[in-house]
Amino acid sequence: MSQARSLIHDQWSSRLAFIMAAVGSAVGLGNVWKFPYITGENGGGAFVLVYLVCIALIGVPIMMAEILIGRRGRQSPINTMRTLAAQEGAHPAWGWLGWMGVIAGFLILSYYSVIAGWSLAYVLNAASGAFNGADSAAIAALFDNLLKSPAALLFWHTLFMLMTVGVVARGVRSGLEQAVTVMMPALFILLVILVLYAFYEGDFVRGADFLLRPDFGKVFQHCELLPSGEKSCRITGEPILIALGHAFFTLSLGMGAIMVYGSYMPATASIAGAALVIVVADTIAALLAGLAIFPIVFANGLEPASGPGLIFQTLPIAFGAMPGGQLFGTLFFILLVFAAWTSAISLIEPAVAWLVENRGLSRLTATASIGVLAWLLGIGTVLSFNLWSGESCQLFGKTWFELVDYLTSNIMLPLGGLCIAIFAGWAMARASSRDELQLGDGLRYRSWRFVIRYVSPALVLLVFLNAIGLL
Ligand code: PFF
Ligand code: NA
Repeated sequence: MSQARSLIHDQWSSRLAFIMAAVGSAVGLGNVWKFPYITGENGGGAFVLVYLVCIALIGVPIMMAEILIGRRGRQSPINTMRTLAAQEGAHPAWGWLGWMGVIAGFLILSYYSVIAGWSLAYVLNAASGAFNGADSAAIAALFDNLLKSPAALLFWHTLFMLMTVGVVARGVRSGLEQAVTVMMPALFILLVILVLYAFYEGDFVRGADFLLRPDFGKVFQHCELLPSGEKSCRITGEPILIALGHAFFTLSLGMGAIMVYGSYMPATASIAGAALVIVVADTIAALLAGLAIFPIVFANGLEPASGPGLIFQTLPIAFGAMPGGQLFGTLFFILLVFAAWTSAISLIEPAVAWLVENRGLSRLTATASIGVLAWLLGIGTVLSFNLWSGESCQLFGKTWFELVDYLTSNIMLPLGGLCIAIFAGWAMARASSRDELQLGDGLRYRSWRFVIRYVSPALVLLVFLNAIGLL
């Protein structure tokens, strides 16, 4: 069986290749674009602390669970869940978990591609010297003009979707595996350079203080910048749900991306070690991005709660003023595109693997079909920043983009993660998870099993109940 399957899909060439691909999936727009702006909207350090707790208590154990389920099932998430449910004598309805993941990945991809398109546009801006000597007002205008133009947004969205489809259609192993190995370290180096810039030129003390010092009065504070430029804040349980949702989003958990990557993993590699490396790399990337951005925000009198435009309105100020900024800026946005690219391919892979397995489609046809659907849906996000930004086009006070983001990050991923924890902790036999994790039967395995059975599910449930107002 497993041999026949490895003919359908490639396998990673080594444990390192798996780690690189999974880090490529994890480190993306979530770290550099989303983490800073949601931290800015949700009160800073207190939010970061809740996020870090979610990463440690939920992220690591569920990362291990997803990898082990994937490697044991060795197929797309849908078929993996079906196969394992049958093997473990669990209800066939577990197959639906795979479906929810495929749908979540496709919804996320639809807006991810639009935002990655902004980064593509900024490669051009940086390379053409558009930031040189520009003040924060000029930088803000540059961003506003991009958002105001549906045609421009659509163009970059289309280009990015084509790039994603192009790579996935060829199979993940040939191109990506190697490219990721070079580009990810380069992205980290550039983030460190930007942190150094922020240290010398920004308001580093205020920025670091905002990011790292928890002000518990703000755990429940959510702020937004109104179109009028006014800032509106309210007290709500939402920041905690957003922190939980972001822990899943940033680690690519809860939708089968890591599961499908795990299914291509060599049988002997250590799952726990890999999970730890992935989580640590992702967290460092997010914190570095925060340390690069907030000092520039405060030094230029910008508003941390500016929303999705935050990095596009701050980092160019740094690039415009620093020596060699044109080169560094160009490089930075190229790497950001690359980070987004290596994540986007993992958003599409679960669906593609399923179409190849069950519908007998070629990878090219499978990838192109999903790509076209996600592209169409992405038009809703394109319009959310211009023609559909008005209140008459909103639902529950959210634009299309905000709705898709909220539904996927804050509901579908945590729900998917909860089910994965329940499956790995309760539906799977102890012997199955123990053999797959290869941790022996000692303290390490026992702690993982305890956390995945009780702690992670309880925390996710608590946050949910709190969010819908039952707690
Ligand atoms: N982890 C990616 C990021 O932080 O940008 C986003 C992502 C990729 C989420 C793949 C989910 C996923 F399956
Ligand atoms: Na991430």
